[in-house]
Amino acid sequence: MRILVTGGAGFIGSNFVNDTVRDRPGIEVTVLDALTYAGSQTSLSSVRDSANFVEGDITDADLVNTLISESDAVVHFAAESHNDNSLADPGPFVQTNVIGTYTLLQAVREHGVRYHHVSTDEVYGDLELDDPAKFTEHTPYNPSSPYSSTKAASDMLVRAWVRSFGVQATLSNCSNNYGPYQHIEKFIPRQITNILAGARPKLYGAGKNVRDWIHVEDHNSAVWRILESGEIGRTYLIGADGELDNLSVVRMILELMGKDPDDFDHVTDRAGHDLRYAIDSSTLRNELGWRPRYTNFREGLQATIDWYRDNCSWWEDGKVAVEARYQSQGA
Ligand code: NAD
Ligand code: DAU
Repeated sequence: MRILVTGGAGFIGSNFVNDTVRDRPGIEVTVLDALTYAGSQTSLSSVRDSANFVEGDITDADLVNTLISESDAVVHFAAESHNDNSLADPGPFVQTNVIGTYTLLQAVREHGVRYHHVSTDEVYGDLELDDPAKFTEHTPYNPSSPYSSTKAASDMLVRAWVRSFGVQATLSNCSNNYGPYQHIEKFIPRQITNILAGARPKLYGAGKNVRDWIHVEDHNSAVWRILESGEIGRTYLIGADGELDNLSVVRMILELMGKDPDDFDHVTDRAGHDLRYAIDSSTLRNELGWRPRYTNFREGLQATIDWYRDNCSWWEDGKVAVEARYQSQGA
């Protein structure tokens, strides 16, 4: 099987490629990645000799068409992925997330190639803090940010291409991932690397917002399960019952790193900040038999802290610029 992985130099994509090469020797992997600020070939250094790498943009129709004509399946991770950036400049989000997805869909349609679309729980908007409800495959779309609205638009394109053109696609909407190789602009790695760099963690607002954490390896094992056994046209929600408020996560990071759990700063809240995400993944569990391996968040977080401590060279060079950008936004 020849598989094209878009965004394979990013956080989730690089973990997907590394895990696939390690666990599935019969799969030939090609990565298509534009190496934006969020992509790094260093994240793929262990598979340099086993996976093909193409630097290019998913909006480049000729390149996409050629690569897809040589593939049996596409797993589409490439995206502009950070909410804060989408508030500062939504343009690249429309271009990559909407036009990029459209470009891939036209090519898989042309060549009859199997397609899996990686999306987010943020397309559903947010839940109240005291609401027992979780997102299901039937929750209406109600995205809040430029990022989540472009992901919602891309999901809609996939559904339409399945129905109108018979494209062989599945979709998944996952909750917040954590683990190695996550860009240090994101919440958990930002706080870990702040502490490692001698700075204080930064919490938006009061920190009551809840995210439903899943280890990146569990996200990717679910993607493989859907790719192999999912029903064409279906959407699967991926989550590991990991709801925690941001304040608790910051305090846990500080504690695990041997610091005073109150040693953090409250900073300006994000505009339109979604309150709570929570995933009901019972369809994936009951119909496809998927289960997460990382059921203890504290242990997964400790392993993630250890990874950033042991791999300073992976993130150090970018740290000053990321913090300067946040500082200019009061965050
Ligand atoms: P990321 O920002 O770490 O990586 C994105 C990758 O896409 C980078 O390597 C970047 O260079 C590449 N890319 C960006 N624009 C491109 C373009 N035009 N052409 C080719 N490559 C391009 O993102 P991530 O956190 O790994 O997220 C991957 C996917 O998973 C995204 O679709 C995101 O919406 C989805 N998702 C993320 C999470 C999460 O918690 N991070 C949760 C659910 C879903
Ligand atoms: O739910 C899935 C989504 O999770 C993905 O689709 C996105 O690509 C991914 O970035 C993530 O979105 P969030 O906006 O939830 O993640 P982020 O890491 O930016 O923030 C997590 C929470 O932490 C959020 O409530 C904002 C807060 N936060 C974030 C940063 C960067 C802070 O309190 N302080 C910070 O410094």
